[in-house]
Amino acid sequence: MNITRTETPGGRIVVPVALEGRAYDIQIGRHQLCEAAALIGALAPGAKVALVTDETVATLHAPALEACFHQEGIAVTRIVVPPGEATKSYAQLVSLCDALLAAKIERDDLVVAFGGGVVGDLTGFAAAVLRRGVRFVQIPTTLLAQVDSSVGGKTGINSSHGKNLIGAFHQPALVIADTALLDTLSEREFKAGYAEVVKYGLIGDPDFFDWCEANWSRIIAGGPERDHAVAVSCRAKAAIVARDEREDGDRALLNLGHTFAHALERLTKYDSTRLVHGEAVAIGLALAFRFSQRLGLCPGQDAVRVGRHLDAVGLPSTLQQVPGGAGSADEIVAAMGQDKKVKRGALTFILARGIGKSFIAPGVAADEVRAFVEDELVMKGAAD
Ligand code: GLY
Repeated sequence: MNITRTETPGGRIVVPVALEGRAYDIQIGRHQLCEAAALIGALAPGAKVALVTDETVATLHAPALEACFHQEGIAVTRIVVPPGEATKSYAQLVSLCDALLAAKIERDDLVVAFGGGVVGDLTGFAAAVLRRGVRFVQIPTTLLAQVDSSVGGKTGINSSHGKNLIGAFHQPALVIADTALLDTLSEREFKAGYAEVVKYGLIGDPDFFDWCEANWSRIIAGGPERDHAVAVSCRAKAAIVARDEREDGDRALLNLGHTFAHALERLTKYDSTRLVHGEAVAIGLALAFRFSQRLGLCPGQDAVRVGRHLDAVGLPSTLQQVPGGAGSADEIVAAMGQDKKVKRGALTFILARGIGKSFIAPGVAADEVRAFVEDELVMKGAAD
């Protein structure tokens, strides 16, 4: 393993996010809830904390974190939202804002998002609009949230028109990625988050993709490889966010596989029993590489390698693997048209010239996409 580490005395890996005036650290390591409480206390001495979490995390981990806050003498109010994507809604935003106001959270206080991407996105957005902006801290409890959604300040909720269409950029003041919290994830949820890990290799780091191929089972097992994978992912994301916070350019690379993924999530009605975000991303990554191959951009062996790796991990990589079916080619292309990466009707894709060589391709013709999706719907399997 080869990563530049800034070690804290507790052996943590600290990844800075270098945003002028809004710089913050991502601290990665096992068993750091009490450290998190101490760091939050130091961020805002004397502040009250609103701890926003979901029912699952409230049962598993909230009492331990609250005990740490109490040790630090920090007053904490727990606010619990329902688990699941449906929570990223107008209704839940309203009730969360009301609960934060009822808890008398002021501009100088802190809101802590303690959960997966749903809790982080909703809580971050509530913090962005509450009293015109309150600071918040992310303590992500899923792999997907630790390597992607908790970092970079994208917050928001879904609309009937699509995912994440209502939101704000609001950077956290601190991110604590306690990798021991991931021990309680189901295998399915962990693997779904892994799709976002492998994405960083596919975007711009072929050596990391090689390393993932060799080490994915150790990442799941929870050894030092897990911390390394989270750190490499966060470092890659922090570098992109630092140069393009508001997605005017390079940040769109992080959407590799996501135009397909968002369409599949929409067509499966955000039903997590059928498809969770990371599984949709896994299919989207494989499709992005096979589409790049079809366009003559990417060597076929790289596209096959991506599909094979996802298959080896146990992630889906084809449209056939969408439980209940993905829909027709027309439905899939129409669902892509709802994605916010669409500018004046033209589809913007992230395509690849090979593993670690992704690039932004604006103006991809919908007919080209439809023909590709039609072929994908009749093919037998990614690695055939
Ligand atoms: N999840 C993509 C981004 O943060 O830009």
